[in-house]
Parts: sequence; structure tokens; C-alpha cells
Amino acid sequence: MELYNDNPTLEGLVKTIDEDKQGEVYQQSQEAENDGSRKFYIESYGCQMNFSDSEIVGSILGEQGFKSTRNMEIADLILINTCSIREKAELTVRKRLTVFAKVKEKRPGTLVGVLGCMAERLKEKLLEEEKLVDLVVGPDAYRDLPNLISNADEGDKGVNVFLSREETYADISPMRLDNNGVTAFISIMRGCDNMCSFCVVPFTRGRERSRNAFTIISEARDLYDKGFREVTLLGQNVDSYKWKNPETDSSVSFAELLIMVANVHPDLRVRFSTSHPKDITDDVLYAIRDHENICNYIHLPVQSGNSRVLKLMNRTYDREWYMKKVDAIYSIIPECAISSDSISGFCTETYEEHQDTLSIMSYSKYSMSYMFYYSEREGTLAHRKYDDNVPLEEKKKRLSEIIELQQKLSLDHNLADVGKTFKVLIEGTSKRSDKDFKGRNSQNKMVIFPSNGKVKPGEYVHVKIHKATSATLIATMVE
Ligand code: SAH
Ligand code: SF4
Ligand code: F3S
Repeated sequence: MELYNDNPTLEGLVKTIDEDKQGEVYQQSQEAENDGSRKFYIESYGCQMNFSDSEIVGSILGEQGFKSTRNMEIADLILINTCSIREKAELTVRKRLTVFAKVKEKRPGTLVGVLGCMAERLKEKLLEEEKLVDLVVGPDAYRDLPNLISNADEGDKGVNVFLSREETYADISPMRLDNNGVTAFISIMRGCDNMCSFCVVPFTRGRERSRNAFTIISEARDLYDKGFREVTLLGQNVDSYKWKNPETDSSVSFAELLIMVANVHPDLRVRFSTSHPKDITDDVLYAIRDHENICNYIHLPVQSGNSRVLKLMNRTYDREWYMKKVDAIYSIIPECAISSDSISGFCTETYEEHQDTLSIMSYSKYSMSYMFYYSEREGTLAHRKYDDNVPLEEKKKRLSEIIELQQKLSLDHNLADVGKTFKVLIEGTSKRSDKDFKGRNSQNKMVIFPSNGKVKPGEYVHVKIHKATSATLIATMVE
């Protein structure tokens, strides 16, 4: 499962957040049988945190005797874990609700629940606007689901959008729903305190809090014991992870946590997302350099390359600071791949200022980017204070220039790998041919290579690259 699905219109080259498409439908390894158990169906949209949360929800429902199904027609409970990051994300959810309404018409006892960021943003309003919805549950209230479901069974619709300062679901072992058996997410923190002026996340996810480091390590160990070989540590701003051990009064930083997870086993790869340029420290870079199993890949969203726009965005770094971070990364970890997020047409951005985004992309040599045009979100600082004055057509034009440049940068980045040998973790068979395997190298690049019939998913192999497109590396195994 991938958070950011390939964008089919661009042949997988450029990626967009998958809010605009059909959400991921989860399936447990054993599909629920007709064994009399109640069944839930869940679709997830938005960021990796939401996908990870759906696994926590799965676990909470599992405790109540629910089994998962990927067939909504037979589900007793249909859940949609939603995203509010851009207007389009919410429109997609509204469309899906009309599909669920048809199922409910056929099976009137079916409950429909809206979870996640849109639930948090719209609260009771969702019940008024969407008549079929029975439950509205925000990201910090999933422990209340059993209670809300039993009330809804009695006909009482329920809303719980309480945002917590403590909840990290630390003790819940997530139900691995979409399970390739090789890679998994581990949430290490929740919420965000950054208040970037364009962003709705601090409103939908509440204050930042870090999860108990020991529960993170034991989750990683458990995953390794079950055969998983890669974990991605998740948070909106992982570099500000700081967990205070109440027993010793000492605290664990993100760099320390990374090393603790890397020490679980040398064959367990560690990735993390997302890094905020203002918070990533040299200690994190040294941890990556010194541990072979911490991947040489950093997602470092720039948003804009122009200092005036960055100030309006409240990103708290400017163009020069960002460029120095990029320099530090390449000098400490020369093999590191860096990817980014960008927003075109933010309030008052001029065409000249947009050029600064293009030039910082070239400077940073991104291997990949998630690229968006600005979508105003109610309640954010930008909505209250700034004029969303760049016309939609202009936003789209600037976005297309950004996409075009990224295509070239990705291709250059991948072509530079031709002739190199990489260690790849096999994730499964390739979509195009079941005789080919797909896997990733440390730099997070997808590599396709023919199977020799002796290796299987979850194993590491060395491959030599002989061809590259802007999206994939084509390779053969080396003995
Ligand atoms: N915590 C992460 C980002 C989370 S949201 C970080 O700080 O990097 C993922 C991306 O969505 C952001 O990086 C940004 O590029 C984009 N985004 C957020 N709000 C947006 C908005 N209002 N319009 C367009 N894109 C937005
Ligand atoms: Fe949003 Fe900024 Fe927090 Fe990322 S760091 S989630 S962009 S407020
Ligand atoms: Fe969307 Fe919420 Fe994530 S708004 S991007 S699902 S934190």
C-alpha cells in the first residue's frame, strides 16, 4: 500500500496525494466469512497517518468481534477515513457517501461512519448535511467507537470530535489491514503545532504529542518477528519528536528514536516521514549516515522557493536556510535522495516568485515531488488574513511548469543510477508481470527486475540498473 498513488494521467511519473481517487480498500489476510460475525468495511483517504489510523480503528473494532471485509455490500458498518487538506479531498468523500447511501438503501441496518479530518472539521454539521451518516468520529476519539456504534444500533446518531493532548493510541497494536507482509507504518506522534498558514491539519489533528518510545520499539520488534522488513515512522513533523520518560525524567529525541529502531535488527529498514526543514538536525543526518538500515531518503517539503512567500506561509525558514539544509544533507549523506512538496499560486505569489520555486527544485535535485496548487481552507490563517488572488487558471499553469520540471529532474536522477548496483528489499510481484519483482532501494526508488525463482518478498537482493524511466529503475539481479 502506498499513500501517494501514481497519477494515472501522468503514467505514474508524477504523483499526487490520493485524495482525488478511490481510497484504499483494506482487506485482512483472511476475508471475513459468513460466520455470523459483524463486518466492517473501511476506505481511507489522505496522508499515511490516516492509513495508519485505519489500522488502529481495525484493531479497536476487532476487539469488539468485528471482522473486516472488502465488500461493502455485506458490511454492517461502512467507514470512511477522510482528509480535508484540499477542497477536492472533501468533494471525493461526499461522492463516496452517495455510493454508500445506495448500499444502505438495500440493507437499512447498515451503519455509516465518517472518521478522520473531515469529521473533525465539520463535526455535527456532517450529520445535518449528510442524512445517511450515523457516526462522526474525529482522529482522537476512536476508542469511543464501540460506544458510539452501540448507540447507533439503537438509532442514536453520535458525534465525538474531542481532540486530546495525550492520546497516541500507544498501547494499541494496529490490525495490519493492507498487508504485503514486508513494509508497515508506525505512528510515532500525532497532531501538529506548526501553524503553516495554508494548512488545516493543526485544526483537524490538534496539538502535537509524541508516543512512548518503548511502545514504538516493541511494535517494530513485533513487526520484525512477524516477517516485516521495513518500517516507516510517521508524524506530521517527525523531527520534533520528543518523548519524556516519566520514570527517569529524561527525554528521547527523534535522532535517538531512529537509532533505537535501527537497532531492533540490521535487516529491518527504517524510513520516516515527514521532515520539516526547520527541525531536521545534523544528529538525524549522522544517524542516517552511520546506520546502513536507516534509508538514504528524506522527504523535505519546500512548499515554495521564495522567501517572501515562505514568510506568508509561516514556514519559519527562508530560501537560503532551506538551501543550506540541502547542502548539509548532500555533504553528510552524499547518496541521499531528497523529495519535496510544493504549492503553486499561494496568496499574492507573483510569476517571478514562482520562478524561485522552480530554481530551488533544480538546486535541490529532488528525486520526486508531490505537487499541488493552493486550495484555500476555511479557518486557516491564510483564509483569514490573505487574499487568495491568484486565478485558478494561473495556479494550474504554474503547477504544470512545476510538474514538467520535476519530470525532468526525476528522469535525470534515475538516469544517473544506470550502471549502479543497489540493495533492494523485495516487496512483491510487479503489476505488469508476475515474473518480475518490485522492490525499493534505500533512496526509495522503485526497482523492477526479473525473478530468478529462488528469492521471495521480504528478502534483500542486489540488483544492477540497466534502464531508467522517470518513475522506475529497471534492473537485473546480481549474484
Ligand atoms: N506535515 C507535512 C505536510 C502535510 S500535508 C509537512 O509539513 O510537510 C501534505 C502537503 O499538502 C503539504 O506539504 C502541502 O504541500 C500540501 N498542502 C497542505 N495544505 C494545502 C492547501 N491548503 N492547498 C494546497 N496544498 C496544500
Ligand atoms: Fe500542516 Fe505545516 Fe503542520 Fe505540515 S507542518 S501538517 S504543512 S501545519
Ligand atoms: Fe488529510 Fe488529515 Fe492527513 S487533512 S493530509 S488526512 S492529517
